[in-house]
Formats: sequence, C-alpha cells, structure tokens
Amino acid sequence: MNELSKTRTEGAREEIRKDWVPKDRWIGEDIARLERERLWPRIWHIACREEEIPHVGDYVTYEIFEESIIIVRSAPETISAYYNVCQHRGRQLVNPGKGFSKGGFLCRFHGWKFDLDGSNSFVFHEEQWADCPAFTKESLALKKPKIDTFGGWVWVNMDPDAVPLREWLEPVADWLDPFEFQDLRRAWHETIIAPVNWKVVMEAFHEGYHSGATHNSWVDYYTMLSPTHAYGKHCGFTTQFLEMPRMKREDGKWTPAVSGADMLYYQSKELHDELLAQVSDSGMRALERLREEFPPGSDESTLFPRFIELSKEEMEAEGARWPEKLDMEAMLKPGISIHIFPNTIVLPTPDAVLWYRMRPHPTDAESCIFDIWSLNRYAPGKEPLVEQHVSEGFAAAKGRNPFLEQDFGNMEAVQKGMRSRGWEGARTNPLEEVTTNHFHRVLDQFLAMDPL
Ligand code: FES
Ligand SMILES: [Fe+2]
Repeated sequence: MNELSKTRTEGAREEIRKDWVPKDRWIGEDIARLERERLWPRIWHIACREEEIPHVGDYVTYEIFEESIIIVRSAPETISAYYNVCQHRGRQLVNPGKGFSKGGFLCRFHGWKFDLDGSNSFVFHEEQWADCPAFTKESLALKKPKIDTFGGWVWVNMDPDAVPLREWLEPVADWLDPFEFQDLRRAWHETIIAPVNWKVVMEAFHEGYHSGATHNSWVDYYTMLSPTHAYGKHCGFTTQFLEMPRMKREDGKWTPAVSGADMLYYQSKELHDELLAQVSDSGMRALERLREEFPPGSDESTLFPRFIELSKEEMEAEGARWPEKLDMEAMLKPGISIHIFPNTIVLPTPDAVLWYRMRPHPTDAESCIFDIWSLNRYAPGKEPLVEQHVSEGFAAAKGRNPFLEQDFGNMEAVQKGMRSRGWEGARTNPLEEVTTNHFHRVLDQFLAMDPL
C-alpha cells in the first residue's frame, strides 16, 4: 500500500489543513488510479443538453474512461441512457458521437437488434438457444446507468446505489432553479483537449483570487475580494470591491469607476466583449440605460433592482422570456460561481450562463477534456445553430476567447511547476481559496470510500 492510500484508508483526513493541500493530490499514478476506481463511477456526470436530441431516435454518446453511454430520446418526453454495448459479444452498438436511429439499435457484428426502450427485439437464429434457460429477453436488454435531468442537462450516474440527482445537487439546486437554465440555448460550445490534469483546469476557475494578476487587461481586479464558500459537497465564490476599480476606457486610459453604474457597465462590457459570454446584447442595452439613469453623484440605493427591471424589459423586447422567480434575492444567492462536485462549474447571470465541465483523459493523467458552454436566453426560433469547436491544446484555441486565454496562460505552467521537487503542496488561501481546499477534502472522502 502506498502512502497516499494508507493515509486515506486510515481516515487521517485532518492532515489536510485549511491552508494546505499536499502535492500527491495532483501528481502521481496513485491519485489518478484512485479517482478512476472510486470517484468517476460514483458521481453524477453531465452527459449532454436535452435540446441536442430533440427528436425520437436522436442520440449522443458520453465517454468517460472505458465507458461509452448512449443518451437517446426514446419517446417524445423520455430520454434514456444505455451502456453502449451489445449483449451478445460486447461490440459497441454505435460509434461514439451523435446519430439518429429511429428504429432502435442494430449491432453490425451478428445483427442483433435493440428497441429504443433498450429491450432486445431480434436475435439472429434465436431458436439455437432454445435449451438455454438463462437466455431470456429480460437478460438481453441493454444495461442502464441512472439518468435524470436538471437545468436542461442530461446527467448519468453509473453507481446503482447513487443518491437521486436532486439530492446530489443540494443545496445548490434550489439556488439555481430560478434561473430556469432548461430554457437557455447554446450560444457556443468550445472543447479543448488540455495538456494538464483535469483538476488544474477546474481549480483555475473556482476562485476569483487569481483575477488581479491574471485578468489585468480591462478591469483592475486587485481591488476585488472573492470570499469562497463550502456548500455541502459543492462550493463557490462571491465578489466584492473594496474600492472603485480602475477601468480601461475606450481611449485606452485607465481611470477609476466613477459610480456603481459605471463599474457595472465596464465589468459587464468585459464579459460581453472579451469573455463573449454571461452578458448578452440585451443585457448590454440594459446597462447602457442604467448608466444614463444613474449618472455620477446620483443616489444608487435602487441601482440593482433597477438593473433587473431594465434587463427584464430589454430581454422581453427581444421576445425572450424572463424567468418569473428570478428576483434580486434569487439572482444574488448563488454568487458569481458554483462548483458542483466534482467537475462542473456554473457561472449564472440574469440573462445567460457560462458552464464548464472537465473530464480526465482516459489514458493520460496529465491531460483532460475541457468543455465550455455559453448559454443565452433567446426568443423562440432565434436560437443559433451551434457547432462544437474542438482545439487540440491551448495554442490551437488562441484567438477564440481573449478573456479565457488569460486563464489558459497559467495552466501548463501550473502542471509543470507541480511536478517540481521544489513544490510540496498548495498553500490555499483560507478566505479566497476555501473552494480548492474544500474540494480536496470531499474528494479525499470519496477516494477513501468514507461516507459523506
Ligand atoms: S456482438 Fe452484437 S450481435 Fe454479436
Ligand atoms: Fe480567470
């Protein structure tokens, strides 16, 4: 038994202090193997969006390590999940990817067929098994992981004893409900095959402490504090400005924000123009009106309620629907970002959401598959047709998203630095990196098979 698994099986979790996560949580074969065996088969995974499979027979596959799972619309109101494997000799039923198969699935090896409900509908020369009592139709049905939906996403879990998805997501599911993510549609979908461990990517996004040094091109985030919080298995961060930040103005000069409206406008403009997400065109129009209504020196006590009113007005003028329960309290509840354990990060705003998912590479612990979805509210019929864009490595993604490029710029250097004998572990900030520390505490519990 190695040191890592010994400490875990002995339950000595206290070794993780609130300001310390040891190096072996990232580097080495042990951690990758334990995650593969004890984490990934036991979590709820985001597999796809519901709207990716609008018609009966539409399917996509979800890949994680050796598993391929078919997500198929099996009836107008039913989405089903099956392990992508024929019950005869184990051929994958469909090639990984997207497809349409209205009549069910035909295995190309010996011609067995399975209906969209997973039942076996045809065995070539079935009579030849007549003397085999275990050869029943029930036993031939496709095997199923657990499946559920939340926020317009299809989630799957390979653990037959898994808690229901809703229970898994609490308490954050209640906070995310008012945003009605199921009504949002993709504005874009970027996938990066990233040459770093999945946790290196994930941890670059679940705190705001890095913003001052990393995101220094449009807003001065050194004036920002980003308290982090643990929410059950999950975690997240909020932000507050300790003083008016300097902003890069249209003329290229850096000057401090002159009011709350001015600050909100330029911060949002950065998200709209550089992150290309979280703030839609209608949101920017609302912010322009807000800035006019609240000139420097005016009473800003009603700034945020008015911002929500204007956002709603501008969105409805476009023909999109504002979620009824999304008032100011509901909007502020999740903070800037929620990290859903273990590999999903959600950044909701009034009119959009940015959504991250990191999956480990099946054979290389220092590589991962990083998906980024930007989702907006659209008027019916105005949703764009979205093609997933895949980049092999961060260099290939250059030029596609100026803001995220700043985050990408750290990741390979982090992965390299973590391997050094000159680094023994992360000194996590007890206020602004609780997320990193808490995530590893929860992960440790999973890897040691302790109850949560
Ligand atoms: S493996 Fe599928 S029919 Fe033989
Ligand atoms: Fe960042």
